[in-house]
Amino acid sequence: MLAAVGSAVGLGNMWRFPAEAGANGGGAFVLFYIFCVVLIGSPVLLSETLIGRHGQASAPESVRRMAIESGKSRHWDALASIGVLGAFIVLSFYCVVGGWVLYYVGAFAQDLVTTGLSGGAFQGRPAEEVEALLPGLFGNGTLMVALQVLFLLITLYFVARGVSGGIEFVATWLMPAFFILFLAITIYGAFTGGFAEAVTYLFSFEPERLTGPVMLAAVGQAFFSLSLGVAGMITYGSYVGRDVNLAGTSTIIAGADTAVALIAGLCIFPIVFAAGLEPNAGPALMFQSLPRAFQDMPVGSLIGLLFFIMVFFAALTSSVSLLEAPTAWMKDKFGISRVVATVTVSAGALLLGALAALSFNTLEEWHPLNGMSLFAGMGMFDILDTVTSKVLMPIGAILTSIFVGWIASRRLIDAENGLTGGLHRFWLFLVRWLCPVALMAILLVGIFPSLTE
Ligand code: TRP
Repeated sequence: MLAAVGSAVGLGNMWRFPAEAGANGGGAFVLFYIFCVVLIGSPVLLSETLIGRHGQASAPESVRRMAIESGKSRHWDALASIGVLGAFIVLSFYCVVGGWVLYYVGAFAQDLVTTGLSGGAFQGRPAEEVEALLPGLFGNGTLMVALQVLFLLITLYFVARGVSGGIEFVATWLMPAFFILFLAITIYGAFTGGFAEAVTYLFSFEPERLTGPVMLAAVGQAFFSLSLGVAGMITYGSYVGRDVNLAGTSTIIAGADTAVALIAGLCIFPIVFAAGLEPNAGPALMFQSLPRAFQDMPVGSLIGLLFFIMVFFAALTSSVSLLEAPTAWMKDKFGISRVVATVTVSAGALLLGALAALSFNTLEEWHPLNGMSLFAGMGMFDILDTVTSKVLMPIGAILTSIFVGWIASRRLIDAENGLTGGLHRFWLFLVRWLCPVALMAILLVGIFPSLTE
């Protein structure tokens, strides 16, 4: 279970959630996101883990086994193949952001060495200069790709050795430590201004802001953050013991993941408002706002360094799960060794990810899918992010809920899910009706916003 929490909690919570909340105007997005986690994400999460635990194999193989035992077509495993593709694409741009995190680890380490423990971080340097660290990195394509490669190599090392030892250590010790540090920074921030404004921004519901694209963004964020829709949690389900109650476990995973995202929002937005930054700064948001807070904190260099080291480990436990899925698939499909499969997948992710990294500088003007409204004006980084969270993950989740709700035999499902009575009936209703229908509707109004106008 800790490994699953490690997969779920990552850059999606600390980096992507605040960025998406800001880009989509705050309150309406956040509340709809919570709604999606509870009524769509959690039932799909339970569906994925139960497929995995029943199948006890890689994601496509687990789906195939359940389909065959239910007397249905083995080709339902296509839902997991979409997932493998999705995980590969997420991995490619995830490593780019992982590289940014490494850059900040380096920046704070250097600062600690030069200024020591007295006062805040980056002493004597104006806030604007600290804020410009990320744009500075964006201007240096070579460095950015080098850091992306470094992050990918570290991920590769863990996966090639087989997931367990190291990841278990990170999930058991560093994740709880991270949670406490993050909470402490948030509480400190709550006393230094901007908190009330942030709470209003994040939790006030203005119905007119809940447009199709905002709803799709919220569903996409819920799936991205819970590692859903791309078969990641099917794989984790296969590691879960027979004696574990899957419904309880899924609830804990969803609860912990959402708690970290909301803490990230409550940590970052007060700084944004107190410092007069733009809430819709997108991917740069976390990286520009937090260092400003560390500037004002006692022993800020050390706290900043610890913080970014822990963000790095949270990202690593997620990227390991992202690399694991396509690697396991390749190994089974082509009968090659684990190491060869890991290296092949990584090489592909490196090439695709480099295009994403360079879309912040050399390829800034390259908008390859301008003809499609969903991708208009986007560079490679945003295209890869959008196609996974707003297309592949919702489609994967629709297929998963149809498979579990309608195709798989009730006997198999009931034996796995750990629910009884009214809760069981409610879950079945969500999986059969609400998830597929709501997801299809959100996908439609999200991709074609003119439908609701
Ligand atoms: N959920 C992770 C995060 O929030 C990212 C992630 C890990 C993921 N594994 C995944 C996303 C599988 C989709 C699918 O950072």
